[in-house]
Amino acid sequence: MKFVLSTIAWVESIAKKEIERQWWTIEEVTDRLVTFSWPIELMPRVNLWSRVGNKLYLLLAEKEKVMDFDSLFDLISTINWKKYFKKDYPIVVNTSSTRSELFAARTIQSIWKKAIVKSLVWENKIAKEDENLEKMEILILIIDNKVRILLNTSGNALHMRWYRTQAGEAPIKESLAAAMVFLADWRFKDAFYDPFCGSWTIAIEALMIAKNIAPWLKRWFAYEKLWLIDWETSEIERKNARTKTFDWEYRIFASDIDPEMVELAKENAARAGLAGLVNFEQKDFREYLDKEISGTLVSNPPYWERLKDENLKSLYNSIDKLFRKNPELWWWIISSFMEFDDLIKADDYKKRKLYNGWEKCYFWRRK
Ligand SMILES: C[S@@+](CC[C@H](N)C(=O)[O-])C[C@H]1O[C@@H](n2cnc3c(N)ncnc32)[C@H](O)[C@@H]1O
Repeated sequence: MKFVLSTIAWVESIAKKEIERQWWTIEEVTDRLVTFSWPIELMPRVNLWSRVGNKLYLLLAEKEKVMDFDSLFDLISTINWKKYFKKDYPIVVNTSSTRSELFAARTIQSIWKKAIVKSLVWENKIAKEDENLEKMEILILIIDNKVRILLNTSGNALHMRWYRTQAGEAPIKESLAAAMVFLADWRFKDAFYDPFCGSWTIAIEALMIAKNIAPWLKRWFAYEKLWLIDWETSEIERKNARTKTFDWEYRIFASDIDPEMVELAKENAARAGLAGLVNFEQKDFREYLDKEISGTLVSNPPYWERLKDENLKSLYNSIDKLFRKNPELWWWIISSFMEFDDLIKADDYKKRKLYNGWEKCYFWRRK
């Protein structure tokens, strides 16, 4: 079976490593997509364990050089839909077309309906429109005239972890937070800091990586509602995942100037079952300027909030000062405050592009 794991931009290489490290070899890595072949029985494992993935799709059909709607119709008609869908499940079809001849989403969707109506008719209905039923997603992905018909096996996107029912004003995506912790290569015996912790996404992802907790133990997946795999196989993976957790003494320090954020962070920690494992404090990060610290710091300082420009500059100057004062601190910060480049000595830093949602950011790090 061929699978495609979608990711946020610029973390494809981390998703690739995540899959290679644990299980399988990759066939192709392209913009926001990682493709690999995999026995269907292992599908629950990727869904349970992927920290940086977005959705895991099963590839149902693919074809290069699809230039007209007739060819698209023929491709969709080759799929035996009844093999995958249980009776009456509503299906939603999404389309995405880049640099291709076929791009009209509505026409693509109506072609899809026409093409499957023959194979998917149960009592002359494609599927009942019932708001209470979860919808199964088909994605028709067209890039450079190559069409891929994909079935979403995850359901809701994997970046939305269960522990975060509430977030602060500028929360970072959980998958991005996990990607940042991987990029920082934190050695778990070292201290870990997030001095702008907000709702605690970065520190919680760090702790879940350190403790080897599968991020997705507590949710359902779309594949559980399809004819893809039996319930026992899926449960065995879940049970196995529960036995993989490590216990260790971690030194994680998360703080924020806003007392409400610190309360929210504590609630999220409790929901994740990780209360008591992180030192939360309400404090201005400048308090660190009076101390010497070592270890790893991964953080997401404010960059758009109602701070005036000169306040932002002063804040980033203090961040720079903190880093200069602590040569034993391996630090990484994500921000879209591009003026940071003007405040620092370019030779001392490296940066790489990352996106927080649609917002272009840089991930600055110590050289
Ligand atoms: C971009 S948000 C962090 C969001 C966080 N990564 C999350 O996922 O929820 C920046 C945070 O910095 C905090 N902050 C602003 N100025 C600060 C300061 N001087 N010291 C410590 N925290 C500060 C804000 O209260 C806010 O929660």
